[in-house]
Amino acid sequence: MCGIVGYVGEREALPIILKSLKRIEYRGYDSCGILVQDNGKMHVYKSVESIDYLKANLSESEYDGKIGIGHTRWATHGAPSKKNAHPHLDCKGEIAVVHNGIIENYQSIKDGFLSNCAFKSETDTEVIPHLIHQTFGKFDQNASQQTFGKFDQNASQIKEAVKEALSRLNGSYAIIVAVEGFDGLIAARKESPLVIGVGDRENFIASDVPAVLEQTNRIIYLEEGDIAIVKRDSIYIENSGSEVKREETLIEWTIEDAEKGGYEHFMLKEIHEEPKAIIDTLRGYLAEDEINFGVDFKIEGDAKGKSILMVACGTSYYAALCGKHIIENLAKVPVQVELASEFNYSDFVLDGTNVMVMAITQSGETADTMMALKKAKRYGCKTVAITNVLGSSATRTADETIYIRAGPEIGVAATKSFIAQLVIFYLLGLFLAKMPESEFLEHLEELKRMPQIAMMVLDEEDITIQKHARYLSKYEHAFFVGRGVNLAISLEGALKLKEISYIHAEGYAAGELKHGPFALLTKDTPVIAILTRDNIYEKTLGNVKEIKARGSPVIAIAEEGDEEVEKYVDEVIRVPKTGAIFSPIPNTVALHLLAYWTAKERECEIDKPRNLAKSVTVE
Ligand code: G6P
Repeated sequence: MCGIVGYVGEREALPIILKSLKRIEYRGYDSCGILVQDNGKMHVYKSVESIDYLKANLSESEYDGKIGIGHTRWATHGAPSKKNAHPHLDCKGEIAVVHNGIIENYQSIKDGFLSNCAFKSETDTEVIPHLIHQTFGKFDQNASQQTFGKFDQNASQIKEAVKEALSRLNGSYAIIVAVEGFDGLIAARKESPLVIGVGDRENFIASDVPAVLEQTNRIIYLEEGDIAIVKRDSIYIENSGSEVKREETLIEWTIEDAEKGGYEHFMLKEIHEEPKAIIDTLRGYLAEDEINFGVDFKIEGDAKGKSILMVACGTSYYAALCGKHIIENLAKVPVQVELASEFNYSDFVLDGTNVMVMAITQSGETADTMMALKKAKRYGCKTVAITNVLGSSATRTADETIYIRAGPEIGVAATKSFIAQLVIFYLLGLFLAKMPESEFLEHLEELKRMPQIAMMVLDEEDITIQKHARYLSKYEHAFFVGRGVNLAISLEGALKLKEISYIHAEGYAAGELKHGPFALLTKDTPVIAILTRDNIYEKTLGNVKEIKARGSPVIAIAEEGDEEVEKYVDEVIRVPKTGAIFSPIPNTVALHLLAYWTAKERECEIDKPRNLAKSVTVE
């Protein structure tokens, strides 16, 4: 996601802010911006180019302000552009905010409480400085004429105005607020991380430890609901109206370790971010039990007697295959899935008036998927991009975009973006469904449980998954089998294992092994079987018995409480029980962890597997 930094001290803020932003550049961003206070006056610089570009176009000696804030943006509301880059300011240009997170109710605040304000950007963030300005009125009768600068730089009053503004927000945030003439910064967090780096007559604020590690290793982790007044030589932290003390932690990591949040690889960090990717993606489209994609997406009408065609490559293709089952199960709308590279040169019969084409692409740049999207447009189909990268080629080509909110993914093997794609398919399925309300709400409740379910699988990492990975790592061939909605998950499990551990792995429909691959089953060919207790559980179990009879070791991914399975397999990885259609979520988390720990056991180059690229922009 976005990165935020702040500095208040005795040194020049500008080079420190630029350096801190450079340290979080690896997370990916599409635009950036900084603000420096020079003699109480605020100066803002923004760029849709790189931080280096911003730096090259600024004279560092020009402003010797000792207070600054900075931001790298990963667009969520509004395309990457200068006007949408942070910091955002209130109407008078006296209050500046950098923000990480998503404000869910920004539109209703804009239309209601702030209907008199002139907004300059399309972002959700911009409501925050305006709200602070407006709520300041509670603390001073003449607030509309009042300027903060003249207003005695009263930290406590500014903090109260910020608190009051934040109380109106739904969603998540980590923010830093700079106020003209105020000799400090205000920092606050809710569901987004924020740290204070403690220095000697200077302090730092950042969304990520690596941003400040070059300056100090004394870190205070702000906790949920904390609001802090950070000055050159003091840090005051408050929670629920009372002052709180937060311990300093001495960070021993290197900067490189810190970039990975203490994890050894980005891939492991990103697997651990899967619960958050689910929360963020749900949050983007679900409010008070209503699903709203916020785009011109008349799918309800379109879907009547009509169908969806999904085109994709790689992991996104497997997500689409799973999405087909999810949407057909929940909404009863027919979905066809095609590999983009095949679709592009096939004699596919495409009825533009009846088929809506969805391009599923994490990066939004994959050449084959882009070609397929263009082909669909030539046929006159309504097109929708489902992507993680706003402003990417897919978003500019498709008629509509649905954005998955997985945040930047650095590891070449897609993990959290796959999970976020699945979440979009659940939302789409429920959005299109014509089921009784009670059934709809039941499904929705189950969907909302998924972050917690994913966390429960992560809790199994040390106890069981690493043990099974050690076992699997000794083999050179493996099969992954599943059925129904979990066939795609077995394909994804096999893909993940082969790309990072270099074990030859094949995903297969469990019922199909007997039509050929049985010839390969030996004691040296383990089979990982997804055995969810769904309507075809008995059939899948039957397939597993056939496999065992051919001498292959079987590791089952099975639900808690399923004792039956123990009788027929060698090892069991337990996942929490969910409604069968939601089982791909826990099963995927388990298989991602299994692939990671197997590759780690084999000492592979996990984040950058040989011969592979994160985004393939050639045919
Ligand atoms: C590359 C990546 C895969 C990814 C595929 C499709 O091959 O290595 O991880 O699944 O491209 O990428 P997309 O960005 O279109 O989802």
